[in-house]
Amino acid sequence: MSIASEAGGTAPQSAPANASRRRFVNIILGTGLLASAASFLYPILRYLVPPKLPDLGADAVLAAHVSELKPNSGKIFRFGSRPGLLIETAAGEYHALSATCTHLGCTVQYRADLREIWCPCHNGMYDLDGRNISGPPPRPLEAFQVQVRGDDIFVRRKQVA
Ligand code: FES
Repeated sequence: MSIASEAGGTAPQSAPANASRRRFVNIILGTGLLASAASFLYPILRYLVPPKLPDLGADAVLAAHVSELKPNSGKIFRFGSRPGLLIETAAGEYHALSATCTHLGCTVQYRADLREIWCPCHNGMYDLDGRNISGPPPRPLEAFQVQVRGDDIFVRRKQVA
């Protein structure tokens, strides 16, 4: 009979029981650390790899009504998931282009005072056909087809032959 059991205390635990308890504690701590690391890294990964915006794949949209625009003005409209720019020139012609600057993707706008398309981010300029004429934009804006039906102005992607 051991001294501990004579004194009413508990017997010293065996080495296998201690190892089993230590393993259990290590598993709990390891799981906690993994969960903490995952909760820290997940938002960073979501930020670095943003979800793809569904391209609505719009081939033709109603951009505006004839009565909305006046000569020498422009209007931003939604073309799929991106902005488009519809311009009515002083002569009454319509031009429709992508409104996403080819430099760093800012939204361009029509400048009635210059009668050109302007990107406010880095002062890029395009002519009414979307050609990049000054500033940093490296490529022209994508031009769209315009079709007027009654009071509706439809814009569609140009068909590639
Ligand atoms: S983003 Fe348009 S000029 Fe830089």
